[in-house]
Amino acid sequence: MINAENTADGRGLTPRLGDRLLAAGADVLTLGNHTWARDEIRGYLAGSERVIRPANVASGLPGRGWTVAPAADGTPVAVVNLLGWLFLDVAMSPFEVLDAVVDEALRAARVVLVDFHAEATSEKVAVARVLDGRVTAVVGTHTHVQTSDARVQPGGTAAITDAGMTGPHDSVIGVEADLAIRRMRTGMPVRFRPAEGGVQIEGAVVDCDGDGRATAIEALRVEVR
Ligand SMILES: [Fe+2]
Repeated sequence: MINAENTADGRGLTPRLGDRLLAAGADVLTLGNHTWARDEIRGYLAGSERVIRPANVASGLPGRGWTVAPAADGTPVAVVNLLGWLFLDVAMSPFEVLDAVVDEALRAARVVLVDFHAEATSEKVAVARVLDGRVTAVVGTHTHVQTSDARVQPGGTAAITDAGMTGPHDSVIGVEADLAIRRMRTGMPVRFRPAEGGVQIEGAVVDCDGDGRATAIEALRVEVR
């Protein structure tokens, strides 16, 4: 599972880039608050089994909030995408849809991964607690800064508040630092450009048993030279 919402020059995903990530080996792509940044994503989401958007968006929008894909050994793995409510512009609280979406996913697969795309650490810890014992892992995304709290909770659900960013870390969360700082200093609009230096692959690796119970989680950080 890859959260791909910043793939297209840092904002949104295009069908071409989505296809490239899938061809490179990604099983499922998830999105977040930049889901609709590119117009062409609408038709792509409507026709895609492997590219999903958050489940808690306004009803009637294209795409799906969860899907199932086989792991390398054939085990069905469900992936759920939810968007945080705190400090983000969201039509509906994730808590409104979380139970129904997770129950649906559990009917399709024992192994269930949740990408909780959210700003606030408190909300991410809370969702991980709510889902403990029900899903395999709750992996936070969106802040681009990897947290050091990877853990398996008492009920058997792995969690990490944020898996971090695969991209240029010599930056302000992916943006050329000078541009991000100029916008903050002046309050004036500044066109952002993705940075290029210090590329790292970040994420998390979760081990689980056949019942979908997590046995380990490890944060991953690899420098790309
Ligand atoms: Fe985001």
